[in-house]
Amino acid sequence: MKTYLSFVLLLTVVDKIFAGNGEYWNYEDHGPYTWSQTYPECAGWRQSPLNLDYFDVVYKKFPPFVFSSSFDRPHVFNLKNNGHTVVGELPTGMPRNEIPQLSGGDLPGIFRFTNFHLHWCVLLGESPSEGSEHTINHVHGAGEAHFVFTNEVTKQTAVFAFIITMLPEGESSAWEAYVHNAVKLIRHGTHTQFVGNLMKLMENGNYFRDFWRYNGSLTTPPCSEGIIWTIFSHHIIFSYNELQALSLNVLHKDFRPIQLRNNRVIYHSTLGNTADSLRYCFSWLRAMPTIFIIVIFLDF
Ligand SMILES: *[C@@H]1O[C@H](CO)[C@@H](O)[C@H](O)[C@H]1NC(C)=O
Ligand SMILES: [Zn+2]
Repeated sequence: MKTYLSFVLLLTVVDKIFAGNGEYWNYEDHGPYTWSQTYPECAGWRQSPLNLDYFDVVYKKFPPFVFSSSFDRPHVFNLKNNGHTVVGELPTGMPRNEIPQLSGGDLPGIFRFTNFHLHWCVLLGESPSEGSEHTINHVHGAGEAHFVFTNEVTKQTAVFAFIITMLPEGESSAWEAYVHNAVKLIRHGTHTQFVGNLMKLMENGNYFRDFWRYNGSLTTPPCSEGIIWTIFSHHIIFSYNELQALSLNVLHKDFRPIQLRNNRVIYHSTLGNTADSLRYCFSWLRAMPTIFIIVIFLDF
């Protein structure tokens, strides 16, 4: 009995140390505030995530994104609990011309799909106060979906991010099948398969026109910089039960807190519609105090 107990204890310890493919980081005792001790880049000047808003941004017209047809086709994804999240990847032997491919939107070159994964947090009440990585006007969504793409020539990474909004039960989404499979991946290293369509996961009715763009980093160690972030205004909908099932079965939480902006430019795409022009008008309100001071100054 004693031997058995020590064995279990040893296994638990080993499991903790090597949680995440032998990488020494997590979201608990070796959480985000300690990462830079092992991964110096995590203390860099161009880190992610950031807070985003509609006022402290530069409005800019972006060319539309161009998606290859394989984006809107069902694919068999390998889902794996990598110790930090559940990551969805295409089979390694997949013919290159079938791998979904992205360009346009001022991305430098052609980017191929690499993986998708989520960030979330255990839900304590009906309205989430954390879970997403980026915040909008300092407000967190219940979670965040990341679609990671790689430019095979420059090795640069671009990420499409969608904030997850929680709706009451009864809503079913393209993510239902994902959750059904992902919640079985309780232990680190376990994997399963899931048939999904990337366009549907990014949701119909999303025209990929309304987004923020900035230069940041991976939100997990090694926190490498030079990542092109595109965060869409369009949210992805999950039900309370779907999110709760993920956080209770797989991981309690896996999001990194907001990082310093350090004078980085954040662009927001302009659509050329009324709502957007209004926002653009209001963005000038920021300048009001300055104008006011100048008026007072001229008065004397
Ligand atoms: C990101 O950095 C690159 C290289 O320095 C620069 O060309 C590009 O304009 C930057 N993009 C944004 C959104 O700041
Ligand atoms: Zn991510």
